Amino acid sequence: MKITGKELRQKWLDFYKSKGHADIGAVSLIGDGATGVMFNVAGMQPLMPYLLGKPHPAGKRLCNVQGCMRTVDIDSVGDASHFTFFEMMGNWSLGDYFKKEKTAWSFELLTEVFGLDKDKLCTTVFEGNESAPRDEETASLLISLGIRPEHVFYLPKSDNWWELEGTVGTPCGPDNEWFYPLDPSKKDPVFPDDYVEIGNDVYMQYRKTETGYEPLDHKNVDTGFGFDRMLSFLNGLSDAYLTDLFTGALAVLEKLSGKRYADGGEDRRAMRIIADHTRTAVMLIGDETGVLPSNVGAGYILRRIMRRAIRYCRTLGVSSDAMLAVADVFIREVYSEAYPLLAERESYILDEIKKEADRFEATLQQGMKEFEKCMQGIARKNEFMAKSDPAYIPETTVGGKAAFRLYDTYGFPLELTEELAAERGFGVDRAGFEEAFKEHQEKSRVIAKGEAKGGLESHSEMATKYHTATHLLNAALKTVLSPDCNQKGSNINDERMRFDFNFPRPMTAEEIAAVEALVNEKIAEDLPVVYREMSLGEARQEHFVGVFDSKYGEVVKTYSIGDFSKEMCGGPHVEHTGVLGHFRILKEQSSSAGIRRIKAVLE
Ligand code: ALA
Repeated sequence: MKITGKELRQKWLDFYKSKGHADIGAVSLIGDGATGVMFNVAGMQPLMPYLLGKPHPAGKRLCNVQGCMRTVDIDSVGDASHFTFFEMMGNWSLGDYFKKEKTAWSFELLTEVFGLDKDKLCTTVFEGNESAPRDEETASLLISLGIRPEHVFYLPKSDNWWELEGTVGTPCGPDNEWFYPLDPSKKDPVFPDDYVEIGNDVYMQYRKTETGYEPLDHKNVDTGFGFDRMLSFLNGLSDAYLTDLFTGALAVLEKLSGKRYADGGEDRRAMRIIADHTRTAVMLIGDETGVLPSNVGAGYILRRIMRRAIRYCRTLGVSSDAMLAVADVFIREVYSEAYPLLAERESYILDEIKKEADRFEATLQQGMKEFEKCMQGIARKNEFMAKSDPAYIPETTVGGKAAFRLYDTYGFPLELTEELAAERGFGVDRAGFEEAFKEHQEKSRVIAKGEAKGGLESHSEMATKYHTATHLLNAALKTVLSPDCNQKGSNINDERMRFDFNFPRPMTAEEIAAVEALVNEKIAEDLPVVYREMSLGEARQEHFVGVFDSKYGEVVKTYSIGDFSKEMCGGPHVEHTGVLGHFRILKEQSSSAGIRRIKAVLE
């Protein structure tokens, strides 16, 4: 190692401290909600109010190394350069110094502290448009510092303008990006193909508005250099997983699996994914906000990331406990100094990883049963067909629909189904899977549209109350009559509700009174009505009722009312049952064979 992670961190902070910056330390990975962005995706994000003009208690020159998360590229994690969690080395001028100082300091840091050759450095600046002028000022400053004029490129907004995507009101501006040849020994490298981007100086002097940009009262500088990437680059590594941030984790995985990272292939990919995702899980669970796996928000992202890691443990041939060993290395050996909270919470973090792994193993087991059923079905069909037709060629492919069901309901990625099928000499109909997937997306879109329309057209306050009452009635019928009673239809307007369900005989007067009383009891308890989104598989596991087979969408909408009712449903509903008033059944009658109909009112 030419430079360790610890040294790089220190050098960055020391350099900017020597230029009068205060080290403000890192804050939570979770966005503060001001931008609507779930995670901090850049070091500047927590500093937004200060970039917009609010005075910062630590002054006008700040620096730190901030943890960030970007999950848009999660499918690329597994290659040599992508991460879900990474750190950004940053420094800022809040209305203080500007281009002259910033270009000089970035140049000094890169050439003198990190020893890069000024003749090989390339930079890009903004070419200008109707919002902001061509950045000739930065270009000439760079050239006066010693960058070769032919190494300064003017590029359009898509390359050299930085802003948080889609967020109105945020500070933004043209930027100056720094590049260096990936292989500095290469003769006459060609820009940009032979180069890596190592950092970004943004001249934040605008504020994004609904229609364009308006100048800020003061001019800021926002610098971001990717810590993980810089570390691999300075060590001459084209594989960012070979820095000392990851070597400990990889050694653990090699030892547990008996496989070698250097051998490449699927095993190496799995090792990278397990290492990256476990690091992210450690950082989220150990974050000051203490994110835990769940079905909403940041917790859901964490769950997805962890489950992906667990799945790749399987690919690598290790148990999910490998994640605990890897987490331990990150906490104790790599990040304890920079993130003291992690070491303090170590046993808690490991416990939570273990719990989620156990939960997922349980889901996987359920899915395995489903997979077995599917295999048995094919075997039976093969046996039957072979008897009646001696020329019959046995089926050796798992159908696309079945593979999709495993994916949608049990969270089995297609690769897992393929792996399981291959173990028995079977293939999977990939095209059929894709088709089922597309069909499902199409249906989701239609349903989403329908829901949006329905939401606009009906759902008065009263209808919303009736809607919640149907959930209470459904649960009450299951309690009083039979758990096999299921909703078969309903019709609501502002005056009354109608509810159809399967039951083989008329209800007795006592049963009607009991159902009515139970619904009123739940209204009196003023139970909270809680909305959650989750996967269909999870909804099934948590015993939500609903018409599973006719609902599409990987994520389903659910409502629970206390412990009493759990239904998959698009809403809308009241927030507490207390507002429903008094529930009265007007009539119970036959609707069709085996189906009963209740008419009821809220008064
Ligand atoms: N905010 C800038 C970036 O993320 C520095 O690249």
